[in-house]
Amino acid sequence: MPENTAPAAAELPKAKATIAAIGQFEGQSVILHGWLYNLRESGKLLFPIFRDGTGQIQGVAHVKSVTPEVFGALKSLTQESSVIVTGKVRADKRAPGGYELDVENVEVVQRVPESDPYPITLKEHGVDFLQEKRHLWVRSPRQSAILRIRAEIMRAAAEYFDMNGYIRTDPPILTPAACEGTSTLFPVDYFGDPAYLTQSGQLYVESTALALGKVYSFGPTFRAEKSKTRRHLTEFWMVEPEVAYMDLEGLMELAENYISHIVQSVLKNRAAELQTIGRDKAKLETVMPPFPRLRYDEAAEKLNQAYKDGQLEQPFEYGNDFGSPDETWLSSQYDRPVMVHRYPADVKAFYMEPDAKDPRYALCVDVLAPEGYGEVIGGSQRVSSYELLSERIEKHKLPREAFEWYLDLRRYGSVPHAGFGMGIERVVAWVCALDHVRETIPFPRMLHRMYP
Ligand code: 4AD
Ligand code: MG
Repeated sequence: MPENTAPAAAELPKAKATIAAIGQFEGQSVILHGWLYNLRESGKLLFPIFRDGTGQIQGVAHVKSVTPEVFGALKSLTQESSVIVTGKVRADKRAPGGYELDVENVEVVQRVPESDPYPITLKEHGVDFLQEKRHLWVRSPRQSAILRIRAEIMRAAAEYFDMNGYIRTDPPILTPAACEGTSTLFPVDYFGDPAYLTQSGQLYVESTALALGKVYSFGPTFRAEKSKTRRHLTEFWMVEPEVAYMDLEGLMELAENYISHIVQSVLKNRAAELQTIGRDKAKLETVMPPFPRLRYDEAAEKLNQAYKDGQLEQPFEYGNDFGSPDETWLSSQYDRPVMVHRYPADVKAFYMEPDAKDPRYALCVDVLAPEGYGEVIGGSQRVSSYELLSERIEKHKLPREAFEWYLDLRRYGSVPHAGFGMGIERVVAWVCALDHVRETIPFPRMLHRMYP
């Protein structure tokens, strides 16, 4: 074997690094693959800020520390030009991520021309403009951080069920019938027959729950919501557990443990992102079971009192679903989510089991997030009697043929069972303290928004 064939240290191939994990290369030269976020100049020094999807780092180049070509290329970089940068990692306590990069080389992959500059400059833009440029807006540090938190919420949401013996069974998106009322259905022409985009996978997970015991689904759901509110999307993601032999008590316990797991996971795994968006972590740290529980009637009383005290503009009309201002007021009263249970059966869905102690009430629960974020979970025990379900389908004027299979679940081995749906975007809005759900999903779909 020939001796001394190993290359000298200086010739070793340089490590590819990400900005988030750059600390492990302190004192070494690394290669970063990213984009120019911003460039500052100060005499003979250039301070380019690079981003690579995992974070940002400031580079430093002195006119004498790099070749004239590299200095020139850096100096003429435009915002969002794509670059492959080589540089030496240096710890710097003042730097936001703790490190800076002494630039050695830059390879410009694509230079954004001055004649057609990146449209989202670092000054403030109106939200209409930003929404129109959503495909680029997602690159901003704040939007990227929100999407990372969303991903963690979804990961933890699936993890909880996977760890606790639930089997994921995803329902179809194309469905023959309504689940959550006929007024928000999106019709689809299915080879000449009417079909709809699913409003909820619930009816299908009821079937798989009776097959597998504990199941969940996780996917997109659709509501033709004509209302323009900060909480409604027309396409959103829902996670829906369903459990055979579970009652409302068990469901409420599941809901509080579930939400707590998700929030604590975000605190643990996305602390940097919460920092980036300026979220007050103390408000999330209190999210631990048990959650306060209120009957609908108790909540109605509190709302009446709030109206009398001038804290609400409209009186609450008993027997209605809570309006947005009601939910906002109620949920602001607690430092963690509040569970409102046993609504009047008349305002709730056809499939909800009546309370045996007083059948005017449904065995249902809505979980309202704190800080005024409103309903994040809606769930219930399901009607288990064939006769009652049959009656309900008729009373709600639902097409019986489309529900024959659903009635079969009550014909063959019917059992008490329960489940809920949690809207991912509502949770992201709350966890990130966002004014509007439009920033919680990569590409929001709303009443007046289909582009990009
Ligand atoms: O309360 P909802 O309508 O309940 C159901 O769909 C049940 N079938 C779920 C079940 O029991 N398996 O919706 C559940 C959750 C709401 O609490 C809310 O978080 C979210 O889905 N949601 C929406 N999120 C964004 N935009 C909309 N238009 C939403 N509608 C409901
Ligand atoms: Mg609901």
